[in-house]
Formats: sequence, C-alpha cells, structure tokens
Amino acid sequence: MPPVAESALRRRADFPILGRRFHGRPLIYLDSASTSQKPEVVIEAVADHLRSHNANVHRGVYALAQEADAAFEGARARIAAFTGAEAQTTIFTKNVTEAINLVAYAWGRANVGPGDAVLITQMEHHANIIPWQVLCRERGASLRYLDVDERGELSLESLDRELARGDVRLLAFAHVSNVLGTINPAAEMVARARAAGAVTLIDGAQAVPQMAVDVQEIGADFYAWTGHKALGPTGIGVLHGRREILEAMEPFLTGGDMIASVELQSASWNELPWKFEAGTPMIAEAVGLAAAVDYLSTLGMDRVRVHERRLTASLLEGLARVPGLHVVGPPEADARGGLASFTIEGIHPHDIAELVDRAGVCIRAGHHCAQPLMRCLGVGATARASVGVYNEDSDVDALVDALLSAREVFGLGGGSPR
Ligand code: ALA
Repeated sequence: MPPVAESALRRRADFPILGRRFHGRPLIYLDSASTSQKPEVVIEAVADHLRSHNANVHRGVYALAQEADAAFEGARARIAAFTGAEAQTTIFTKNVTEAINLVAYAWGRANVGPGDAVLITQMEHHANIIPWQVLCRERGASLRYLDVDERGELSLESLDRELARGDVRLLAFAHVSNVLGTINPAAEMVARARAAGAVTLIDGAQAVPQMAVDVQEIGADFYAWTGHKALGPTGIGVLHGRREILEAMEPFLTGGDMIASVELQSASWNELPWKFEAGTPMIAEAVGLAAAVDYLSTLGMDRVRVHERRLTASLLEGLARVPGLHVVGPPEADARGGLASFTIEGIHPHDIAELVDRAGVCIRAGHHCAQPLMRCLGVGATARASVGVYNEDSDVDALVDALLSAREVFGLGGGSPR
C-alpha cells in the first residue's frame, strides 16, 4: 500500500458544503453511501449550463438548442466512457431504482414466466428486491435469494447450486453492499450465470463512486448506477445494457422523444439510447454528472479506491476501540467498500446518530432500505458511517470520539483513548 501521504486525497476544500458548521463544530460528513457531497466544479457546471446554455434537446435547430444538444450528448459520452461503456447503450434514468424497474418491466415482462426464477441475494436493498417481487408475482415466477454467510459474503458454490436448477432467468445483485460493505466478485458471478444461460443485472450504486468499474470487463447484461452517490446531482441514474438485449426490448416509458414516427393508432421507436428516454430528459443533471466523473477521473479511480480503503481500515480500527460496538460485514478493509455498519450494546442506532450529530458528525441510522438483510443479521437497525473522497483521518477520529461520548451519555463509560 502507498504511504499515507500518497494515498490521502485531501480534497475537502473542493466541497463548499464542508465549510459549514453544525452545533458549533465543523461539518464531518460520513454519509456518502446515502448521497455524496458535490465539488464546486459540479455545482458550477450545472449553474453554467442553466445560466448560459439552457434549451430543450433533440428538438431545436437554433444555435442555443444545438449547444444544449452537444452538452447533453457530450455528457453521455463522457459518462459512458467513465465506466468503459458505449454511449448508445448508456441510458439515463431518474436513479438506480428506475433503472432496475426499466429492466423489470421492459425485459422482465417479456422474458420471465411461470416456472422461471429470478435469483437475487439477501444483501440487496429494496430497489433490487421489490421490482423482482412484483415481476415474479405478476408472471408466476419464483424469487429466490442467495444466502449471506457469517462474514457477510456470498458463496459461489451456492450460486452454482442455484444455477444448476436450470430455471434461473435472471441473476441480480449489488456490486457492493450498502450495509455490509461487501465487494462481490461481480465478474465471476456474471460468468457463472452466463454459462448457465441466465441474464445478469448488477446494482453498482455503491461501487461506481469508489472504485474503477469497467462494465465490459465485468460483462453483465445490465449494470445500473446513480449520479448522486458519485458526486453528481440527484435525479440522474445510468443503465448500461447489452446492445442485442436492449434492441430486442420494448420501451419502458412512452411519449415524446422515444419515438421515430407516430400514426393515429401506432408508433415506431427511436434508436438506442433514446428509445428508453421518454420526455424531456435530465439535461442539467447529465451535465453535472459528466463534470463529476471528469473530477473523479482526474483524481484517478485507483487512487480513490486506495484512499477509501485506507480510511475504511482506520474506521474499522477506530470502531474497535469503542466497547460494546459490533461491526457487520467482512472484517478486512480489503474485502469491503468505504463503509462500516455497526451496533452498540445499550444504545439504539437512532440515538447513536443523534448523539454524534451533536459533534457535527453525520452518519445514517436505520434499516438502510434493506429490511430482509436486517432480519438475517438479527437486528432492527444499524448505524452506518461511510466515507468519500473528501474525508480525512481526522473525520474518523471525530466519529470515534463522538461515539465514546455517546456511551458516556448513556452511562456506559468511555473506551480506550487514542
Ligand atoms: N441506498 C441508499 C443508502 O444506503 C439510500 O443509504
């Protein structure tokens, strides 16, 4: 591993919101798995677009509209290249939830039927559960789950056993778990599913912001992620799809822009990717997300991963000093993304989050939109700290100090000093 000075990114000053203070303390933001903060370059790219280049896209012949077209389709090209995808097979959606629903409706309704199975995992969040529940109920298919083991990981042997049953039409799983932090062996899982004739979908919401992702290398039929966790604006998600499958699919949402021509009783569809983008798209958001991926590319995704891996190791070390604290998920930083979910004996996770907020530290508490996983873990909720490119070692120290103070508030005593 590179020495600390090399691996620390020190980008805090690029994020204006981190200049704010709460309860008289500097803002320590450790909730990036929920949504990331935005660097000035992203804020400025959105503002500049709205200020100087705003017009609708794919409709106007005047010069301003041509500028908007170039900004929007140029943004798509940069966003696609960031994950090694082609622009034509990169579809903008509202978020990762809509991307998964697009597949569940437009592909699932035509390809999953009675006797088929959709295979997901116990570590999915609701966006990668509910669309499949609804699809399977409607189509008479079964929904099965791969177990999560005591380390918070999936077993490739269990995957093989499930695939050997011969009925799996689709395997859908998170690249990185938003609760356990587990990094799943995406390419390996996809290869096994593909060999068994199953289509694959990966929810990359927690992966794309923090590690180099090449969707061609991974080889999934669908790979979905969202802009707001990757330093971009809310309101824009991304679905990369395999060209032959996208071409064979009917549209999801219908209306303007997704058509080639319209008759009174019928219509034909636009080419990819616009066939799946009905109505005025998220133009300023695409421009903002392109600025975000440019910013991440300039940092270098390998450096981002080294930075977040190192902070995760400090986080795990720091949390281990808090008595009664239990972390869920793989114990090694190498096996997980930049987050740690935990419980503290004697303090409810919501109280933990409220108490650390008094020290200006933002963490998430609750079921993290993953109620089935919470049941597997035997907890109702956890607290979760997650890091981003702007976090520093001092943020982890501030969290650990705040957790020790929280224990004192509950009369549980402090822990070992730093
Ligand atoms: N899935 C997001 C999270 O984990 C919202 O916080």
